[in-house]
Amino acid sequence: MQDPDATEISRRGFIVLGSSTVAATALPQAAQAQKAVAEPSLPPPWKVSLKVNGKACELELDARTTLLDALREHLHLTGSKKGCDQGQCGACTVIAGGRRINSCLTLAVMHQGDEITTIEGLGTPDDMHPMQSSFVKCDGYQCGYCTPGQICSSVAMLDEVKAGIPSHATADLMEPPKLTPEELRERMSGNICRCGAYSNIFDAINEVAGGTV
Ligand code: FES
Ligand code: FES
Repeated sequence: MQDPDATEISRRGFIVLGSSTVAATALPQAAQAQKAVAEPSLPPPWKVSLKVNGKACELELDARTTLLDALREHLHLTGSKKGCDQGQCGACTVIAGGRRINSCLTLAVMHQGDEITTIEGLGTPDDMHPMQSSFVKCDGYQCGYCTPGQICSSVAMLDEVKAGIPSHATADLMEPPKLTPEELRERMSGNICRCGAYSNIFDAINEVAGGTV
């Protein structure tokens, strides 16, 4: 007659053997999955050539790097400020190929070969751009956080008016735009000043424009 205990042991032994086989198979898979989570493979860096403030710059960047981060974090040009990082404040305004842009809204890799001018490239403390001098003279700032963007934006804005580019405030699209107070305010509306130094900013720009507003 068969010993019932022997049957029980062999049944338990079978379960233990089966469990350890499953565990042995599952463990390497789990370890591999954990490794994949712990070590995500990064995309290779992109090579980008920019001409920043007249100087050739070669960068190797994650393709997702914004122009603002490339300037601030990789080239250490911290004059351009990060206010909102989503195109609402204008603190990051730089001039790319002669046009003002929000550098937080564009990727550095989209500017291969472009000429970029930041506030550092407009002038120096000893040799300021007329717009920089005018902001100092007219006291066109309080905390100064928006000021680099305001100055880069206003310099390019006056060039836009000279080039005959209309704004939403241009009354007659058949005539070259004139820098009226409405035009100036509309054209600078993308640059927010949280200190509210708008009237002095207005005066500073107006002075460079020849006091025509
Ligand atoms: S930081 Fe770019 S618009 Fe605010
Ligand atoms: S001067 Fe402070 S935000 Fe404009």
